[in-house]
Amino acid sequence: MHRSHLLWRTLVFVGLIGLVCPRILAAADDATLSKDQIKQFLTTAKVIKSKQSNKGITNPYRLTLSDGTITHDASFQPIDEHASMKEMASGRSEMNFVDSYKYNIAAYQLAEMLGLDDMVPVYVQRKWEGKTGSLSWWLPVKMDEGERIKQKIPVPDPDSWNKQMYKVRVLDQLVYDTDPNLTNVLIGEDWKIYRIDFTRAFRTHKDLQSTKDLVQCDRQLLTKLKALDGNELATRTKGFLSKSEVQALMARRDKIVDHFQKLIAEKGENEVLY
Ligand SMILES: Nc1ncnc2c1ncn2[C@@H]1O[C@H](COP(=O)(O)OP(=O)(O)O)[C@@H](O)[C@H]1O
Ligand SMILES: [Mg+2]
Repeated sequence: MHRSHLLWRTLVFVGLIGLVCPRILAAADDATLSKDQIKQFLTTAKVIKSKQSNKGITNPYRLTLSDGTITHDASFQPIDEHASMKEMASGRSEMNFVDSYKYNIAAYQLAEMLGLDDMVPVYVQRKWEGKTGSLSWWLPVKMDEGERIKQKIPVPDPDSWNKQMYKVRVLDQLVYDTDPNLTNVLIGEDWKIYRIDFTRAFRTHKDLQSTKDLVQCDRQLLTKLKALDGNELATRTKGFLSKSEVQALMARRDKIVDHFQKLIAEKGENEVLY
């Protein structure tokens, strides 16, 4: 799949009730685990099976882990590529290019700070077969957004869908993802949206990629964005984000907040916040 074809700008869309073929679901053994238990499991459980994925861009490994009681899958992503100049598939070149598993771990830490940790899977650092990478809790996915659009499957509740998607948009602008393609937007049970794969995010640009994506904002998310503390973020992402990556993110945070404040002044709070 050509990553640049699938910008998700067109995602928020009105639809009717549609039927979805249920696909393989992860075992429902995770309902009762806390985030800390999930982190512990991912960090320590034994790998009992592995398979290279055939989806996405870099084909990370799908591992099956077990601690004797719980068995659950996880995605292992060891990529850590750095280049002073990289020509992208789109023909565009990127300076100081980084494609790194470390950003997955940073993204989960950030998601926790923003109260978006139900939208991003838990990512921890793990060593497997001599390689260090990120390991994420396998989500109960029905399909990804690319498949949904290709098959023209309408969403059953556009309002709830849009409210989730506006959160994804804020997160995308905050982390400056240069690869926000539709295979990274996953759809779970009850049309729950997940955002995964941040290995090409966290650029050091202080401007936003696309302010016009920011139309509405969840109230709690805006409150948490305003309260986001750069020092705490730096501490929580130590070893995964550089100082300039944190600084750039905080500059973008300021711009996102300013943008929504302006929209609120223009249109009124009820048109902008939900
Ligand atoms: N935690 C996860 N739960 C469910 N599916 C996942 C998970 N992580 C990855 N995948 C699946 O594997 C694909 C590739 O993983 P991803 O992390 O996006 O790496 P890349 O796009 O670089 O290959 C995703 O598009 C998704 O279909
Ligand atoms: Mg991907």
